[in-house]
Amino acid sequence: MTTEKIFVHSYKGGTGKTTVAVNLASILSQKGRVLLIENDFSMPSFYNIFKHDPDTFFNNYLNGSGNFKDVIVPNIKPDLDVIFANKDFNPMEKIMGSDQEWFLNLLGRMIKEFKSLENKYKYVVFDSPPGWHMNLVNLITLSNKAILILRPNSYEVNGSKRLLEILYKRAKPQLNLDVYLLFNQVPEVDMVKDLNSWAEDFKQGGIKYAGHISCSCTTAYEMAHGTTIFPPDHVFTRSLQEVVNVLSL
Ligand SMILES: Nc1ncnc2c1ncn2[C@@H]1O[C@H](COP(=O)(O)OP(=O)(O)OP(=O)(O)O)[C@@H](O)[C@H]1O
Ligand SMILES: [Mg+2]
Repeated sequence: MTTEKIFVHSYKGGTGKTTVAVNLASILSQKGRVLLIENDFSMPSFYNIFKHDPDTFFNNYLNGSGNFKDVIVPNIKPDLDVIFANKDFNPMEKIMGSDQEWFLNLLGRMIKEFKSLENKYKYVVFDSPPGWHMNLVNLITLSNKAILILRPNSYEVNGSKRLLEILYKRAKPQLNLDVYLLFNQVPEVDMVKDLNSWAEDFKQGGIKYAGHISCSCTTAYEMAHGTTIFPPDHVFTRSLQEVVNVLSL
């Protein structure tokens, strides 16, 4: 079995990466075993989403004080294992301040870990922080699919194009990576023409179009009251299911 490794990313913060990552992991867990990794050390939120306070974290693996297998929290939901980032981590410490060599070394370690997990997981889903960071190079190298999320406005479109130029276009020819564009928080008015026209610009740069998720006040309200993983018949889940189909997951 080859593991599908997918990471979510965006140019700006607050686009919906974490919401997409956890719901994607939840949908995929209906089809096979999933490992969901919180790869955002500066603003961890999985502890809050899953109401779980583990003893070991991704941070422990990264700084050498824990084995990869030991930082996996098994069966958070059926067929869904999760690696948490430490909410008490001070972002000024080691990981954020590490140099290129450290990240390169980490990449080597992670490649080995994923080889040993090939038979265990059908999917690995990474959440990630916005914008450019060194760890992104590792995610790009480790993953075979990326979902680039943006809200439909010109500065996010232009910012994402910049990411395309400085990062994805350069990385793609060397790597086995398919990058998909996903609009989120799309106003519930007819924007299909705008979205298609923006998606066309990205297609020129080799980025595929995964579709869009509407901005729903009900979704925002439910999230304000602590729901982040939505049931199968929810509007967010249904839109994300279409993304799953486009990505052939
Ligand atoms: N389709 C949607 N409809 C309504 N609200 C949404 C939708 N998607 C995300 N949101 C809201 O947007 C906010 C940001 O979502 P989320 O935390 O997933 O973004 P993020 O990209 O992970 O942010 P960060 O860059 O800070 O990690 C949340 O408050 C969430 O409720
Ligand atoms: Mg997030």
